[in-house]
Amino acid sequence: MTERKAIIYLFSGTGNTRKICELYKKEFEAAGVSATIYDLKKGFEDMPSPKEFDMMGIAYPIHAFNAPHIMLEFAKRLPALGKGERKEYFILKSSGEPLKINNVSSYKLIGVLKRRGYHCFAEYHYVMPYNMIFRHSDETAARMWDTAKRLAPIEAKEVLSGAYHRLSRVPFGHIFAWILRIEHPAMRVNGRHFKVDMTKCIGCGKCERACPMGNIKRTAEGFEFGGDCLMCARCSFGCPTDAFDIALLDGWRVNGAYDFAYSGEPQQDPHPKYCKRAYKRYFSEAEQKILCANAKNIVE
Ligand SMILES: Cc1cc2nc3c(=O)[nH]c(=O)nc-3n(C[C@H](O)[C@H](O)[C@H](O)COP(=O)(O)O)c2cc1C
Ligand code: SF4
Ligand code: SF4
Repeated sequence: MTERKAIIYLFSGTGNTRKICELYKKEFEAAGVSATIYDLKKGFEDMPSPKEFDMMGIAYPIHAFNAPHIMLEFAKRLPALGKGERKEYFILKSSGEPLKINNVSSYKLIGVLKRRGYHCFAEYHYVMPYNMIFRHSDETAARMWDTAKRLAPIEAKEVLSGAYHRLSRVPFGHIFAWILRIEHPAMRVNGRHFKVDMTKCIGCGKCERACPMGNIKRTAEGFEFGGDCLMCARCSFGCPTDAFDIALLDGWRVNGAYDFAYSGEPQQDPHPKYCKRAYKRYFSEAEQKILCANAKNIVE
């Protein structure tokens, strides 16, 4: 029997969505499906055509209740399918908060892809620690990751089976998402106004190398920032000396990797009441699903 092949087109600013994708890749490969993760970046160099694969996935972090701008650019670059042709795909998304309003983030992307012959049969949303707005505690980050590690393999199996799993519709969601897509041009302008504190910078070049848009240039005098910023936060999050000033969003800047393996003393989140009910619901629904899947495995 010929091996089935899957491709996941991924954009991940600071690694959270990538971690989810890796879980899917592992589960796919355990099921005998080879899985390729293609990283989206400026120029979309050597991007494989989905026509070469039996399964197709798309993964992104939610930005201002939308998919990042690069996801729409990517969708427009996919080969349009001919009459009678149809390609199914699944979506994986990660975000810092579990609000249902985040469901609207894929509406525009799904619409663009539909016009090109691609149809979404499943969407899965994983809550991962914020890389913007405020820093979750390491304890919360570790809990989110532990939940994802147990949930994603179950959901990857659902995807492999081709099960339909679309997230619930949000009334007037299109309008809400359309308004907030102001983020796309606004962040391009904002990115031009990034600054680096040269008294802190150690000249490691990590930010310049990491930028998926090639938007950062180190010069003899300091730094130059172009007009292609996606506000993915990779540069400021990953800077070892927290030397970035990210202009209008600087008050929301989060710096430094989370300890996803944290198992020490209980920690307090900086805003313990923020979306408290939504987080509680997310974790409780995830545990129910994991419990049901485990019980089913025992019976089978
Ligand atoms: C510019 C920006 C906007 C964001 N907007 C949202 C949002 O609307 N809702 C949300 O829950 N999280 C939001 N986040 C948080 C990220 O979605 C979250 O931390 C995600 O897991 C990051 O994934 P990544 O590491 O793959 O980039 C935002 C992050 C950034 C950088
Ligand atoms: S990552 Fe930070 S320390 Fe390294 S070059 Fe960039 S600004 Fe300087
Ligand atoms: S400048 Fe920073 S935030 Fe903007 S796209 Fe590059 S890495 Fe991402």
